[in-house]
Amino acid sequence: MEPSTGILPPMNKPAPQPLDPVAIRREFACYRQAGAPLVYLDSASSSLKPDCVIDAVANHYRQTPANIHRGLYPMSEAATAAYENAREQVRRFINAAAREEVIFTSGTTDAINLVAHGFGNALQAGDEILITGLEHHANIVPWQLLRERRGIVLKVVPITPAGEVDPTDFRAALGPRTRLAAFTAVSNALGTETPVAELVALARAAGAATLVDAAQAMACCPVDVQAWGCDFLAFSGHKLFGPNGVGVLYGRRERLEAMNPFKGGGDMIRAVTYERTTYNDLPYKFEAGTPPIAAAVGLGAAIQWVEELGLPRIATHEAALVAAAIEQLAALPGVELVGRPRRRRSIVSFQLAGIHPHDAGTILGTNGIAVRAGHHCAQPLMDYLGLPATIRASFSVYNTPEDITALLAGIRRTQEILG
Ligand SMILES: Cc1ncc(COP(=O)(O)O)c(C=O)c1O
Repeated sequence: MEPSTGILPPMNKPAPQPLDPVAIRREFACYRQAGAPLVYLDSASSSLKPDCVIDAVANHYRQTPANIHRGLYPMSEAATAAYENAREQVRRFINAAAREEVIFTSGTTDAINLVAHGFGNALQAGDEILITGLEHHANIVPWQLLRERRGIVLKVVPITPAGEVDPTDFRAALGPRTRLAAFTAVSNALGTETPVAELVALARAAGAATLVDAAQAMACCPVDVQAWGCDFLAFSGHKLFGPNGVGVLYGRRERLEAMNPFKGGGDMIRAVTYERTTYNDLPYKFEAGTPPIAAAVGLGAAIQWVEELGLPRIATHEAALVAAAIEQLAALPGVELVGRPRRRRSIVSFQLAGIHPHDAGTILGTNGIAVRAGHHCAQPLMDYLGLPATIRASFSVYNTPEDITALLAGIRRTQEILG
């Protein structure tokens, strides 16, 4: 027992207030403007943007639209401060050890390509990169291109019939030539949440570096790169209530320092002659040219907005919606759920018997219900499942139980028309 301090122990903290999606909707112009009720179930593709993000971007262009880092006048200095402040917000949000480890990119795809070049180009023929059967094309194709450049071997950990990555299979696929394990934190097609910390630990024990594709994780899971122990992490602003055209590559400092730049140009250099160039310090070494300044500022505003809502509250809200959606969809005749992961985030994939997902998506769309129907940029996963496509509903902070009711009504209508 701890020695008494004579101070009363703190009262148990009250449970956090649940999110109020109806109040949250008031912060979104597209809900205020929608003539008919907007049933937006496609946040896994891109989340909607709250006013504060749109205002941050617009105000940036109104007040400080100058370029950064190079100008010695107040407007440029203010723009630089805003951009670097956004970097610090990202650093805090993902708990990176230093701001130098946060590189602004144009998105997850760009961030993974940066690693495929900066880290990948130093690999030798026969070195292995390990991915899983859940990956988005953004975490497949850059490694195939690297295979063409360097002769590396791309290995895939198969998933279980439930749509999960079994750590035992992952461990078995690691070998002495595995140089990098690159895997998603949350599957965009099935919603599976992978055991990131466990997979990172397994890869590190085998001497491999790790890259976490956090594109689907950022808006619903607390992400802590130091707790996870990963070497790289990639995400996009537009799935985190932020603007398009900005994303982040987190890289552990030693890894980034050992890497060559991916793109050359202004700002990433220290000195240039016709004979040779020396590179700038981190993080600028990887930010050639004028970066997405306003978008980064908007991403900072989005992060602040998410922090104010609180990720645990967001996760609780979305978990309740997903559980209700699964229960109601499973009870509907002709609906087949795709994937049954035990740990799932805000995504549900399903099929309608005898109806092509694209036809279903079109009818749902014309009835005001925005879902995604397709291969979700995960064609190898669809091949494994033996499906051409699925219908995907994804949930976010502004979704309500009524959205699920509308989805079910839309499905029944689709079945009446096409079934
Ligand atoms: C898991 C995952 N990885 C990568 C991406 C690519 O993101 P972006 O198109 O923003 O680069 C996505 C986008 O859907 C995704 O869901």
